[in-house]
Amino acid sequence: MQYKVIIPAAGMGKRMGYGKNKLFIPIRHTPIIVHTLAIFEKDEWCKEIILVINEKEREEIESLIQSYEITKVSKIINGGSERQQSVYAGLKTVNGDEEIVLIHDGARPMVNIAHIRKLVQEASLKGAAVLGVPVKDTIKKVKDGIVMETIDRATLWSIQTPQAFRASVIKTAHESAEKDRFLGTDDASLVERIGQNVIIIEGDYENIKITTKEDLFFAESLLSKRKT
Ligand code: CTP
Ligand code: MG
Repeated sequence: MQYKVIIPAAGMGKRMGYGKNKLFIPIRHTPIIVHTLAIFEKDEWCKEIILVINEKEREEIESLIQSYEITKVSKIINGGSERQQSVYAGLKTVNGDEEIVLIHDGARPMVNIAHIRKLVQEASLKGAAVLGVPVKDTIKKVKDGIVMETIDRATLWSIQTPQAFRASVIKTAHESAEKDRFLGTDDASLVERIGQNVIIIEGDYENIKITTKEDLFFAESLLSKRKT
């Protein structure tokens, strides 16, 4: 099977407080974004990477792609101020309707290729599939400092990326969200609102999104273990 992946990498990394885009932070001497790109470079099912960036970082990104010999990046597109706009900018460059498109955060450098492939298979059968894990904590609904409700944990999943879609499905979903000025927190939520089922594939707890400083310790130890 084959797929294309859109990698949004145009964020500011505000919660990391690094002073610039967190995707340039080195982990084991290699920037986070390069770790992420290397996974898709390695997966033979991936035929093309569409990278979405902040235009101010274009030169820096291009030089990383060159020096780490990443060959599958076919397009480097300028993103927008929200993640959804960045993904949409990348999606506009996808022509076919039947092919499988993955959307994967540049900030998740530890996703497993076997899980990626399961997603691709499921999306080609059902149109939309996302990676997730059951939540570990008890989740309560809180209002004005008071617990309103404890939600049954068995029904709750933390959703990750990649999220995989038939191209026609995700294009229609993004177009509809744009028209209605709907801003969702992930791509699947745009698909859900147009009435399409989204299948969950159980992933693993290693596929974290690097968001705050503590996440760097986890990523460092995991990537060290994998490289040895
Ligand atoms: N992203 C993007 N365009 C944006 C915002 C985010 O392409 N306007 C990308 C980020 O680069 C990241 C992914 O979407 O790879 C997930 O976003 P997040 O983890 O929130 O990263 P940032 O937005 O950079 O971080 P923060 O929210 O802390 O500023
Ligand atoms: Mg963000």
